[in-house]
Amino acid sequence: MELHEWAKSILEADTLEGKLAHPGELTDDEPGPPLVFKEPVRPSGMGFSWRTREEKLPPFQEHHDPDKRAICLHRFAGHELLAVEIMAFTLLAFPDAPKYFRKGLANTLYEEQGHVRLYMDAMEKLGIRFGDLPLYRHFWNHTPQITSPLHYISMMSLTFEMANLDFAPMYGKSFLHHGDENSAQLMATILKDEISHVSFGWNWLKKLKNPNANEWDAWESTLSTTLLTPKRAKGFVLHEAHRGKAGIPQEWINKLKSFCEKKAC
Ligand SMILES: [Fe+2]
Ligand SMILES: [Fe+2]
Repeated sequence: MELHEWAKSILEADTLEGKLAHPGELTDDEPGPPLVFKEPVRPSGMGFSWRTREEKLPPFQEHHDPDKRAICLHRFAGHELLAVEIMAFTLLAFPDAPKYFRKGLANTLYEEQGHVRLYMDAMEKLGIRFGDLPLYRHFWNHTPQITSPLHYISMMSLTFEMANLDFAPMYGKSFLHHGDENSAQLMATILKDEISHVSFGWNWLKKLKNPNANEWDAWESTLSTTLLTPKRAKGFVLHEAHRGKAGIPQEWINKLKSFCEKKAC
C-alpha cells in the first residue's frame, strides 16, 4: 500500500481497528497532491469532546486509587491516538517532503499505534475501555499551523514529544510508588520510544532549518508561528539525561533551562 493511502485510511477510519491498522508493506512511489484534513473521522463515541476546558488529571496523591490511574491512562491513550492522526495528517499534507523524512515519520506513526494498544491493555487491567471517558481535541488544535515539515518537527517531536521525556517518567514513578508495576512498565516503554521520536525531530531540524540559523532560533521561531512557546517542551522537572540520550546537545538544553528560568515556567 502507498503511504498516502494508509495515512488517509487512518484519518477516515470510523473504527479503532482502522485507526490502528498497518498494511504490512508500504511504498511511497506516488505520494499524490497535498491533502489537508480539517478533522479526523472518529469511531462512534470517540469524537472530540466540546467542553471548553479539559478536566484536570487526578493529582499524584490520588494515584493509590486504580480508578484515578485509569483516568490518567485514558488521557494518555487519547494523546497517542492524536499523535497517530497528526502524523497521518503530516504525511498527507507534505507529499514533497524528503523520502527519508516520510519513511521515518511512518515508522514513528506505527510505534504510536503500538502505544495506543499498550494503553488499551493497561486500561483494561484497571477496568475501563478506551472511549469510556471523554476525548479532547488538544494537539489537533494546532494542525492548521503545521504548514511545513519543519513546523511538524518543531511542534510534535521537539515540543509535545519532548515534554513527554519529563511526564512519562514522572507518572511511571508515581504508578510504581502506588504498587502498579504494569502501568509503570508501560510508562518506561513509552519513554524509551519517545527518546527515539525526539531524536528523529532533532536530526531533521538540523537538515530542514535555514542553514544560517542555529538550532535553537530555528526551533523557537518556527514554534512561535504554531502559537506555542518553549515552555511546552518540558514537564514540571526537566530531565536532562533523557534529552541527552535523544542527541540534544547540552547547549540547547541549557537554553531551554534558562528560557524557563526567565519566564518562570
Ligand atoms: Fe507515543
Ligand atoms: Fe512519540
